[in-house]
Amino acid sequence: MPLQVFDKAFVPFLEEATIIGKIKEMAAQLKNDYNGKKPLFIAILNGSFMFASDLFKELDIEAEICFIKLASYKGTKSSGQVITAIGLDMDIKDRHVIILEDIIDTGKTLHTFLPQLINQQPASLKVAVLLDKPEPRKFEVPIEYRCFVIPNKFVLGYGLDYDGLGRNIREIYQLQEA
Ligand code: IMP
Ligand code: MG
Repeated sequence: MPLQVFDKAFVPFLEEATIIGKIKEMAAQLKNDYNGKKPLFIAILNGSFMFASDLFKELDIEAEICFIKLASYKGTKSSGQVITAIGLDMDIKDRHVIILEDIIDTGKTLHTFLPQLINQQPASLKVAVLLDKPEPRKFEVPIEYRCFVIPNKFVLGYGLDYDGLGRNIREIYQLQEA
């Protein structure tokens, strides 16, 4: 049954059990790659809070997590500008860092943010995403871990929003075809 949010109708796309299953696989890979390295996860708010929470619960190794908030504002120009709304309060020098992001779309957000982290000389820096939407990519982003590669349709639920709504839905929905 379609879900109506404001003016748009959404249809079920990924079930909760499917999402959690993939997150467990990702966690197993991360445990294998980072055990003994005391990795630092940096989750990007708002969208990644649910993904970060479910992934981090599965990581029964010594690991840290912190959160930053990046926001992109579309001004009068078509190219969005990425600003840091809540900054990084951790020293990442010589740390093994993994960025947690809900979805990579154009790539603008991480393409802008990653060089700022590299400047701080982490021991390593990788990106883990819940959803990789490669078609609209305009800026290259190296992605090491991904749960799903998805088609170029707007999605919501499981932390992802449409104009602020839908983040609390347990499944992921996608925009219904017109
Ligand atoms: P990018 O900078 O274009 O890669 O977009 C990154 C951000 O845009 C993500 O962290 C999301 O918050 C948001 N975003 C991109 N695509 C979607 C979508 O399909 N649904 C909800 N949010 C999205
Ligand atoms: Mg968002």
